[in-house]
Amino acid sequence: MATRVVLKTYVKSGFAELSNFSIDHVPAPSRDQLKSGEALIRPLYLSVDPHQRGRMGGQSTYVGGYKTGEPITNYLVARVAASASSAVHEGDLVYHGEGKWQTEYIVKASDLTKLPDQEGINPRDYLGVLGVTSFTAFYGFQVRGCPKAGETILVTSAAGGVGQIVVQLAKIHGLYVIGVAGSDEKVEYVKQIGADKAFNYKTCGDYATAIKKAAPEGVDMYFDNVGGPFLDAVLLNLKNGARIIGCGITSQKNVTSANEQYGLKNLFYLISKEATLVGINVSGHFNSPIHDEFVSQISNLYREGKVKFKIAELDGIEKAPQALLDLYDGTNFGKSIVKV
Ligand SMILES: NC(=O)c1ccc[n+]([C@@H]2O[C@H](COP(=O)([O-])OP(=O)(O)OC[C@H]3O[C@@H](n4cnc5c(N)ncnc54)[C@H](OP(=O)(O)O)[C@@H]3O)[C@@H](O)[C@H]2O)c1
Repeated sequence: MATRVVLKTYVKSGFAELSNFSIDHVPAPSRDQLKSGEALIRPLYLSVDPHQRGRMGGQSTYVGGYKTGEPITNYLVARVAASASSAVHEGDLVYHGEGKWQTEYIVKASDLTKLPDQEGINPRDYLGVLGVTSFTAFYGFQVRGCPKAGETILVTSAAGGVGQIVVQLAKIHGLYVIGVAGSDEKVEYVKQIGADKAFNYKTCGDYATAIKKAAPEGVDMYFDNVGGPFLDAVLLNLKNGARIIGCGITSQKNVTSANEQYGLKNLFYLISKEATLVGINVSGHFNSPIHDEFVSQISNLYREGKVKFKIAELDGIEKAPQALLDLYDGTNFGKSIVKV
């Protein structure tokens, strides 16, 4: 039998719960069922990402919403167990962007990307340091952020999948880095990977005052993973010509109604500081030279030990729902990945 994680009930508002998922078993597919062009794959590692919460309401985020009674899907890496396609072969390591949270399943081989088995690179690294969150950091910071040495950058969720890479790239580019995270342990980690200053937003008191204390002259770049009141407080602390990279709104994902969405009050400072707010969406940039550049730069930095990457790994596909819930109280410490 194959084990899978299924969406049991939609979550239209508020926090998701374990009871919104079910773990069930279906007959394991066999190689005899393969049609031409298909492959049978066994996932090794599942990526767990904040955007999945939106999809649990049935609505599209970057991609379509989930449907009740069907397996949860997201990026994963897998081994090919059998193939009826010349594109992939038994034993190949592959990436599936809309992979099922199911221990084995049949898929069109054209939906898979072959990955190299490389020395010094664990298969899970393709969801971690070489995965979507790192690419988001690279694209947002390096391409859209136009960093200059000596500038000051502020990063939220600085110990998370995206944030930890932004912190390290910013240091490598010679910026003064301020990281923000939700526990003292995470704050320590953010300093260890190079942040010049870091603080815990859950204990710092008034956000605007804490930002002013960390960056008395203001910030040149804000890499925003959380949106909401923290973004509003940053607007009060911008330098002239500042750039805000709008990457995520984690603080607003579990609100119970549209009325509860935080409304920004300080947008005037975009005008008075001639600042720019740029939204980023990496999904359209994977088949681009920017992605090739990312893979080349980050794998070299990682191999040379110049970039570290912390993973929050849970063991067993049945833990995947908990891993998703953990993103919303900050229990995950590092990029969330489930080992199947
Ligand atoms: N635009 C794109 O193309 C793109 C692509 C990938 C990811 N993203 C976005 O990037 C952001 C980071 O993603 P990630 O995968 O790296 O996740 P992550 O940072 O590893 O995990 C989410 C973190 O959010 C923080 N958090 C949870 N609830 C919060 C709240 N109410 N207020 C403030 N912070 C809260 C927690 O960290 P603390 O303990 O520090 O609070 C938690 O660990 C997400 O918003 C995601 O949607 C965007």
